[in-house]
Amino acid sequence: MKNIMDGSVRWKWLCLMFFILDLVFLVVLVSIWVIKDRQISHFTQPKCYTGIVEEANDNLETKDNDDVIAQLSHDEINHVMDYLHKQKDLNLKRVHEASISNSFVHAMELHTIPKQDLLNFLDNNGTRPIREAKVIMFRGDLAKPLIEEYIVGPLPNITYHKLANSSSKTTQVPYTLRPFSSFEFMAIYKYVIAKVASVARHVLLESYGATPMKCNNRCLRFSMTPISSAFLPVGKRKAWFWFAYDVEFYTLHPLDFQFLVDMTSSNPVEWEIQNVWYAKQLFQSLPEFLDQYKCKPINKTRIEFPTENQTLFSSLESRNPKLSELPQRPPRMFYPDGPRFKVGRNIIEYMSWKMFFRMSATAGLQFFNVRFDNERIIYELSMQEVAVMYSGYTPAARMLYYADSAALYGTRNRGLVPSVDCPENSQFVNTHFYSANEKGHRTYENAICVFELNTYLPVRRHRAYGRIGAFYGGLTTTVMVVRTITSVINYDYVVDYIFYQTGTVEVKVSLTGYLGTSFYYKEEDSYGAHLREHMNAGLHNHLFHFKVDLDVKGTKNRFETLDIGVENEPDPWFNENQIQQKYERNFKTSEMEAIIKYNFSTPKYLLVSNYNHTTMEHVPRSYRIQLQGISKQLLPQDYGFVNSVPWSNYQVAITRHRDSEEMSSSIYSMWDAADPVVNFRKYVEDDENIVDELSFFVHPFNYFDEDPSMRSNDAVRIVPKDKSKPLEGAVVERYTSEQRGTCLPELSLPDKMLAENSTSVFT
Ligand SMILES: *[C@@H]1O[C@H](CO)[C@@H](O)[C@H](O)[C@H]1NC(C)=O
Ligand SMILES: *[C@@H]1O[C@H](CO)[C@@H](O)[C@H](O)[C@H]1NC(C)=O
Ligand SMILES: *[C@@H]1O[C@H](CO)[C@@H](O)[C@H](O)[C@H]1NC(C)=O
Ligand SMILES: *[C@@H]1O[C@H](CO)[C@@H](O)[C@H](O)[C@H]1NC(C)=O
Ligand SMILES: *[C@@H]1O[C@H](CO)[C@@H](O)[C@H](O)[C@H]1NC(C)=O
Ligand SMILES: *[C@@H]1O[C@H](CO)[C@@H](O)[C@H](O)[C@H]1NC(C)=O
Ligand SMILES: *[C@@H]1O[C@H](CO)[C@@H](O)[C@H](O)[C@H]1NC(C)=O
Ligand SMILES: *[C@@H]1O[C@H](CO)[C@@H](O)[C@H](O)[C@H]1NC(C)=O
Repeated sequence: MKNIMDGSVRWKWLCLMFFILDLVFLVVLVSIWVIKDRQISHFTQPKCYTGIVEEANDNLETKDNDDVIAQLSHDEINHVMDYLHKQKDLNLKRVHEASISNSFVHAMELHTIPKQDLLNFLDNNGTRPIREAKVIMFRGDLAKPLIEEYIVGPLPNITYHKLANSSSKTTQVPYTLRPFSSFEFMAIYKYVIAKVASVARHVLLESYGATPMKCNNRCLRFSMTPISSAFLPVGKRKAWFWFAYDVEFYTLHPLDFQFLVDMTSSNPVEWEIQNVWYAKQLFQSLPEFLDQYKCKPINKTRIEFPTENQTLFSSLESRNPKLSELPQRPPRMFYPDGPRFKVGRNIIEYMSWKMFFRMSATAGLQFFNVRFDNERIIYELSMQEVAVMYSGYTPAARMLYYADSAALYGTRNRGLVPSVDCPENSQFVNTHFYSANEKGHRTYENAICVFELNTYLPVRRHRAYGRIGAFYGGLTTTVMVVRTITSVINYDYVVDYIFYQTGTVEVKVSLTGYLGTSFYYKEEDSYGAHLREHMNAGLHNHLFHFKVDLDVKGTKNRFETLDIGVENEPDPWFNENQIQQKYERNFKTSEMEAIIKYNFSTPKYLLVSNYNHTTMEHVPRSYRIQLQGISKQLLPQDYGFVNSVPWSNYQVAITRHRDSEEMSSSIYSMWDAADPVVNFRKYVEDDENIVDELSFFVHPFNYFDEDPSMRSNDAVRIVPKDKSKPLEGAVVERYTSEQRGTCLPELSLPDKMLAENSTSVFT
């Protein structure tokens, strides 16, 4: 490989697909914060508490039970690797010697503990569940290459490895559905890009003034658009590749050079470059294209390499003139008396909340056993998948359907920058995984942040005014936020899990990052926004799927809707008919009934209720699922890629809990539409899976006898000193320690640390 490309180029490009490139935010936003602190330095107030960006965050002592769901430790991973490499029949290669045509461990994580076993352990002093690893293995050297999933256990003294056997997913997956692998990208460089770079070098230089290799500072980067099996003959794996200028940031500089590669074989030597699409013309092969380029009067593109400077539209460098000449810094957050949450290795506590958390390599951040006032409310809360569906005119844009879990979510959460991505005094949590794409063991710094936030929106207030009965009562909304930001190539998904003092949990997704774009031709007009001369930002739809396993006072819950309609009935007091709104409760008994497709004409509350636990007035206690910003997936229900993400057809689907139905998606979803590895359509009965875009809440609904935030110390009450003379002075009641007075928030920006060592942001 060395003779084909020089190392620095290779690694720069591998970064493109596999490493998070978050630099853009840092450059701009940190520069905003670097303002001298001179003015306040002579104050002598006591310092406020400032959270410290710690590597290990053990401000909460971990008790025996708290790590039961913990991801595999460094040692456990080593035990699994040592054990598997001793199994000669697996013929595994270590990460430094593997290639796409070998067997190797792609990733591993804790095999999810069956719910009943975990509950028995947590609630009934049952036996501690054994720990097993779930190992995803590439088997490129088999006669019929596969991806296999093995269960290896028990940890730490391993005695068995067995193929995972699940009724609800395929555990021996055809090699053509393999998820992204750094070894495949290396092979793409060696066998595909190198070839195009050499035989079409003159075309690329003449057309774009740049090449993908030996290019100095005028380089092209490639992107890959995998084609879902829904659009391919049985047993094929193909992808479109396309070039873009390697400037900040390349996804906004696409070019009109694309080519289709058949990558069916596990041996990259056999990969075949098929169609070439150039300057709006399709050619049947690379030789045909080169021949016509040379000999026929085909249309040719001529564009200049963009000048990289401060004003390049696609760079995140700060622009002039400044929006404002004001020298003041923005507001900041601080904890006057220290944070009120505690983070342990696998547990977070905040006010009445207590929850287990962990980062899963495949699924990202997950919560288990979420309790409020010591009662379990949520057994599991986790993201399942993010799908992105594009439209477009060019061949690659037409096939752009992403299911991002192929990229291993766990490894994409890292590098949160204090003061921008999270308040600088957040508690930052590192994670650790084994993934071949990341050269094996790796610690992911600043993968999660936890902070408390005062939104200054009253959760409740009333001002009773006037001369009689005056009082004021209010409570500001302070919440705990647990945040991850998942960077997948050009997108950055900010996912917040927000815990309220009212017993509500909100899940909020905010999207940022860069657009995915296509080279502009007139025909792209109906598929996106023509933003620059050669660039069209494609119309696309981001769909997020979350799983919420609600346990309302135990696991025996019913799903019901509270349907709001209109009645036209005689007024019982006077004879006229009257039209008014009314509601009725409707149980959903089957999973098919429990599919919610939003309909404006039939508003409803979605409730998970326990009829054996009622209020004093015999109303069942419930939690309500409230969707915000829902989206309708417009493609036909069983068309193409939609078969890989059937959950996108509903806004909510409720299914009965089954351990085997662990996830609604898989790392193969990008490719597997012809025969999905996990088919959510088949999940029948009654756990709780939610589909949503942007945000949803789970709210207590007749769950508490009284809003628990009535007990919050943050409340303020103002009453007249003398009820009969409300205008003549009032007593302000507070329940926090305001009397401690003022303190000076210490500045704890990461700038100095990053100046010395920036691995936490850029690796
Ligand atoms: C839990 O089980 C252990 C033995 O398995 C026993 O010694 C202990 O007393 C039990 N604790 C409770 C609270 O039942
Ligand atoms: C695993 O083996 C070691 C050494 O053989 C032993 O000390 C340890 O108790 C074993 N652990 C378990 C959980 O069996
Ligand atoms: C998987 O389990 C089922 C029943 O539990 C069994 O019939 C089947 O043979 C198993 N398959 C494999 C590959 O072990
Ligand atoms: C070449 O470009 C001209 C002018 O834009 C256009 O009319 C013609 O159809 C193009 N030819 C092909 C083969 O696309
Ligand atoms: C930056 O580059 C653009 C062209 O891309 C050019 O028009 C502009 O003058 C340049 N600005 C500076 C400050 O060099
Ligand atoms: C929405 O509900 C109304 C009233 O029940 C019904 O007439 C209509 O067909 C529904 N629309 C869809 C798309 O299901
Ligand atoms: C409710 O309680 C009754 C009596 O205790 C019991 O028979 C029934 O199974 C319970 N139902 C549920 C859904 O828990
Ligand atoms: C930089 O920091 C990382 C942890 O963030 C550490 O692993 C590494 O050794 C540090 N490098 C240097 C040169 O200090």
